[in-house]
Amino acid sequence: MTDTDQLSLEELRAAYRQDYDPYAASTISEHLGELAERREKLPVSYSARGNGCWVLTDYDDISALLRRNNRGVVSFPNEPDGVNAVGTRDAQIPIEVDGLAHRQYRQVLDPIFAPKRVAQLADELTVQANKLIDEFIEAGTCDFVDGFALPFPGATVMAIMGWPMEDLHRMNGWVDVLAHGVPGGTLEENAQARGVAHGEFTAYMAEKIPQWRAAPRREDVTSVILDAEIEGKKLTDDQLFDFFVLMMIAGLDTVQSVLAQSMAYFARNPEQWDRMFEKPETLAPAIEELLRWTTPPVPTRTVTDESLEIHGVRIPRGERIHAPLSAGNRDPKYYPDPDEIKFDRAPKPHLAFGVGPHRCVGLHLARVELKIAFTELRRRMPQFDLDPAKPAPHEHLGLAWGIDDVHLRFAPGEREF
Ligand code: HEM
Repeated sequence: MTDTDQLSLEELRAAYRQDYDPYAASTISEHLGELAERREKLPVSYSARGNGCWVLTDYDDISALLRRNNRGVVSFPNEPDGVNAVGTRDAQIPIEVDGLAHRQYRQVLDPIFAPKRVAQLADELTVQANKLIDEFIEAGTCDFVDGFALPFPGATVMAIMGWPMEDLHRMNGWVDVLAHGVPGGTLEENAQARGVAHGEFTAYMAEKIPQWRAAPRREDVTSVILDAEIEGKKLTDDQLFDFFVLMMIAGLDTVQSVLAQSMAYFARNPEQWDRMFEKPETLAPAIEELLRWTTPPVPTRTVTDESLEIHGVRIPRGERIHAPLSAGNRDPKYYPDPDEIKFDRAPKPHLAFGVGPHRCVGLHLARVELKIAFTELRRRMPQFDLDPAKPAPHEHLGLAWGIDDVHLRFAPGEREF
């Protein structure tokens, strides 16, 4: 029983109403400031914008939501008006799938993403990272997002999926448009660009899926998912397509954002860049702290049970809940001075990869990627700052918070390939 049990849905929403714009045109730190204020004054709130959603801000509430409540089908990418970026309303595999089918997907996927398996990709990823650095190292300047933060995670996903590396550039372009639209584009322009990218990606997959089905199996995600039986059935071409889109978006946007936010931070705080590499053992905990501080994703849940009690509020079935993980990861109750990066924080597991049944399947891969990226960047550009001739980094909110461009300046070096 909670104090809110007697209220009708309308009364409940009105009692907790405080509107929220997940796509606000503000910086990440301004937005985190707003979420910190909400955490203090109204940790569970209802926003009537778009289709309406509840917003959580407290570490424990977010953690409880992700552990207890099934995913349910929600609009993707969390657009308040229910627009779906890939043009369908089917459950995204595996992120919007619940129960037995979801457990079966995870049984198929978890082994291929296990630490030992992803460690086997390290040599290939080191080569890919250095080939990307080669493209800008002689110039002494780069847009780190276009030059590295976007293509490197793309190369990683291509490697674990077992897809041809020569298609990386095209793949990155499609995913970028599907996830973000076009820079500065109107709603119509974004919809049109997404339609084109979706069409090209569909055509690519329509050509590749039959070829992959016929080819001998290998040690990659594509091979295991082609043969997987979920609730007794193999995946159809449409389901495979759906899964492949999710893998690209989940694997790209997140790592890209962590890399870009981190490098923008280090450009302004070079002593922290040095500190991260003080001893070999300082790198791994530093990466965890960067994950806590940068935390890009904003998962959404639909209440699929009769109701869900959070922080003394009983939220009925069908209501949608936004859980900005970054707000949980800046909760001062667990992270004193939460806005500061401190590499020696007492260990408190962060929420960057989520928790519960949908906890990130790619988290070991992401850690390997980040370790290789920072190590190779350190080796080849030990010092850098923001390029004063270029605009300052521009941040965005949305499904995955991040930075559109980070212009860096550094001492030119030589190509290695
Ligand atoms: C720093 C990098 C990453 C971060 C911060 C991150 C974060 C997350 C989070 C928070 C979730 C759970 C979302 C929810 O509960 O609704 C998730 C799920 C997922 N992630 Fe990641 N992710 C990262 C990298 C990756 C990579 C590299 C891959 C694969 C190549 C990947 C694939 C997935 C998949 C498939 C799911 C869905 C899991 C399920 O529904 O069971 N992620 N990720």
